[in-house]
Amino acid sequence: MSEQLIFQPSAAAVAHTHTNAEQYEAHYERSVSDPDGFWAEQARRLDWVKFPTKIKNTSFQYPDISIKWFEDGVLNVSYNCIDRHLDKRGDQVAILWEGDTPGTQDLVTYRQLHERVCRYANVLKANGVQKGDRVTIYMPMVIDTAVAMLASARIGAVHSVIFGGFSPDSIAGRVGDCGSKIILTADEGRRGGKIIPLKKAVDEALTKVGGVEKVIVVKVTGNAVNMEPGRDLWYHDEAAKVSADCPPEPMNAEDPLFILYTSGSTGKPKGVLHTTGGYLVYGSLTHQLSFDYRDGEVFWCTADVGWITGHTYIVYGPLANGATTLMFEGVPSYPDASRFWQVVEKHKVNIFHTAPTAIRALMGAGAEYADKYDMPTLRLLGTVGEPINPEAWLWYSKHVGKDRCTVVDAWWQTETGGHMIAPFPGAVPTKPGSATKPFFGVQPVVLSPEGKLQEQTKAEGVLAIKDSWPGQMRTVYGDHQRFVETYFSQYKGYYFTGDGCRRDEDGYYWITGRVDDVLNVSGHRLGTAEVESALVAHPKVSEAAVVGYPHDIKGQGIYCYVTLMAGEQSSDELRSELKTWVRKEIGPIATPDLIQWAPGLPKTRSGKIMRRILRKVAENDFGALGDTSTLADPTVVDDLIANRQNR
Ligand code: WTA
Repeated sequence: MSEQLIFQPSAAAVAHTHTNAEQYEAHYERSVSDPDGFWAEQARRLDWVKFPTKIKNTSFQYPDISIKWFEDGVLNVSYNCIDRHLDKRGDQVAILWEGDTPGTQDLVTYRQLHERVCRYANVLKANGVQKGDRVTIYMPMVIDTAVAMLASARIGAVHSVIFGGFSPDSIAGRVGDCGSKIILTADEGRRGGKIIPLKKAVDEALTKVGGVEKVIVVKVTGNAVNMEPGRDLWYHDEAAKVSADCPPEPMNAEDPLFILYTSGSTGKPKGVLHTTGGYLVYGSLTHQLSFDYRDGEVFWCTADVGWITGHTYIVYGPLANGATTLMFEGVPSYPDASRFWQVVEKHKVNIFHTAPTAIRALMGAGAEYADKYDMPTLRLLGTVGEPINPEAWLWYSKHVGKDRCTVVDAWWQTETGGHMIAPFPGAVPTKPGSATKPFFGVQPVVLSPEGKLQEQTKAEGVLAIKDSWPGQMRTVYGDHQRFVETYFSQYKGYYFTGDGCRRDEDGYYWITGRVDDVLNVSGHRLGTAEVESALVAHPKVSEAAVVGYPHDIKGQGIYCYVTLMAGEQSSDELRSELKTWVRKEIGPIATPDLIQWAPGLPKTRSGKIMRRILRKVAENDFGALGDTSTLADPTVVDDLIANRQNR
């Protein structure tokens, strides 16, 4: 589709933001030429116990990577998200909850949220949690999950939220990595009419990892679950024993706020560490400006709190800004493909934010589901998590936005804390498929794969960032060297994003997807190495190589090449057994789409698997296989092509 398709901001959007293109450019220039001045001003959006005198102190100079923002400031995140709003908006709805089952809903006002967070914080304290301790949260999409996060922040503990779809093995790995002594969970979760046995998964995880002393269980479905005496406690019993008064712990701006595990190109998922001051300044500013959020509006981000999008744009950003944030327990297709739009009308949502994979799935279900709803309150639509194809962008704008809403495609990562490239509403014209222009303080650069800076406007290569911004991750928990090597060693002097991109003649960025071995399946990040190690853990598998391939709905599907142990027979049964196996090892999001039996993998003479060839075969792009003469056995390629899987 044409890159020339440009949507000028509507008059309504311009009037709303009071910021035109020149003003955006001027603010942007200021933000990068005077970061200290710019971010000192922005820091005033928060309430500080001690306002920082030092603003930016960062270095991208390999190997001495050090990132500090507002380093002598003191504040508390939960105070900023709750207490400071009480005078003005104590009775305003803070979190609006829509259940999986239509007709079920709940809410908390800021005052009620304050009480619940204080109580939960006291439960944590009563169970031995101290400042700096890691608290694992494996909970469904219920209000108590946001409460648990804020309670952890209130007492200066460090939460590690694990997405409710991860397996016991994945939980055990994450709990062990950060050494958390406590897990907050629920009896069960609900999603799309199905029950998710969360407590059962925790029980199984705890047979694989030691060190956990307490498991606190919130009652969600009320179905019977196993409770281990001495270890497992019901939240409601604990809450009844403590007071609802818990002063917020004063935290240094650089104290850790949370760890969130995410996949990389090698090894186990890494614990991305975010700290207190910079993360909250950046999260609240991006929430307000990228979505042009205005006081009194209802903001709905459909992500799960188990991912960074849920952290920044369901919990921390909106609450820091005193917004009403909607939390949805269900899925877009249950009971049918109009669920999102019913909820938008029911709760008079003003700003709606979802992922391209959901848009593509709903588009596939038929426009009539969206067309039935006028959604008069909707003003702005967000899309995030993966590249959006222009067709899906246009469908979203037309059938959901009714051609009157601004569409904001925001590019960012778990590592970046908040939006990095996104159209400033009202000021930056949009082009379907492009995340457009950088946010304030963000300096993207395009490098050739070899690392040469592309100075001309129109360029193509890999995307890197030239200098730090406040929301940037500070380290990999417990492994600073891994942080330095992963993000700063390949292209010296820059933060390397792992994404490829194109910059057009207008300076617009078009993200083309990962250039490393990270998959993006339905907006969920997965390392090919993780799926490979799950496969080779199966007794019948000798070797496995995993690549992504284009998938109409998921964006990318998971394509596995599997070599069986000598003497093992391939069969369709074994194929489904392996799919179930990977699901169990990692979680349902990692279920392989296609498995091809590969008697041999294409290896160089030194034994390195040539993934480029595997990707091309999976993509059905045989013409572009390139030079195969360096392979130890070039004939394996013919076999791979002959046995390519389609479905
Ligand atoms: C991809 C999600 C294109 C990208 C917030 C990035 C995108 C990875 C976009 C991070 C977008 C995210 N357009 N690609 N608007 N947003 N991505 O850590 O490949 O789960 O590196 O963070 O998602 O995924 P993560």
